Amino acid sequence: MELVSLAPLVPDSGVVERLAEIFSSDPDFLLASEGVSTFSPADVAAYIAREHDQGGRVHLLVDGLRIVGVATTLAPHPREPYPWVGLLLVDTAWRGHGFGKRASGLLEVMFMGQYPALRLGVLHTTPRAREFWLSLGYVAVDERSTAEGRAATVFEIVLPPLPK
Ligand SMILES: CC(C)(COP(=O)(O)OP(=O)(O)OC[C@H]1O[C@@H](n2cnc3c(N)ncnc32)[C@H](O)[C@@H]1OP(=O)(O)O)[C@@H](O)C(=O)NCCC(=O)NCCS
Repeated sequence: MELVSLAPLVPDSGVVERLAEIFSSDPDFLLASEGVSTFSPADVAAYIAREHDQGGRVHLLVDGLRIVGVATTLAPHPREPYPWVGLLLVDTAWRGHGFGKRASGLLEVMFMGQYPALRLGVLHTTPRAREFWLSLGYVAVDERSTAEGRAATVFEIVLPPLPK
């Protein structure tokens, strides 16, 4: 692992193609979350446009110069005073190397000092995601349905104040 960072999305064609590979590396997750098992570059462009239209930001998870994952954030959520993580996805080829954990730490730092807590929703159809967030100290605070009517658990982690 080199220097790991969350970089703002630069939507050039090479980046969009790489993101299509990353999304398509996990057909099961893509099916559970987006309803399709593969993403083309055009699908990625549509996903990015949708996120931006809803006020979200897309971040690249970068290890050195390599894009190994993607994260999206919404801050604050339109109906509550907390930032939300919309997505954290690590390329299956790079799973189990600590990138997911590192990314979650970077997401917490992104909002520390500005908000009391960070939240996210986990669909009941993605139980492994639930285990991942629980292993990082997130706690379940609510049960809700998504706009599409899918059952989801809201997880939260309390953010510490900025260190002096
Ligand atoms: C969940 C995900 C982001 C984890 O990424 P990763 O880079 O493989 O995770 P890490 O290597 O940083 O693992 C961090 C910790 O979580 C644990 N963990 C990772 N994936 C896990 C899983 N699916 N179930 C349970 N625990 C998991 C690891 O054991 C590790 O614990 P440790 O530090 O005590 O060893 C990745 O599996 C993924 O992209 N999944 C599909 C998308 C998804 O479900 N995203 C989360 C919901 S938006």
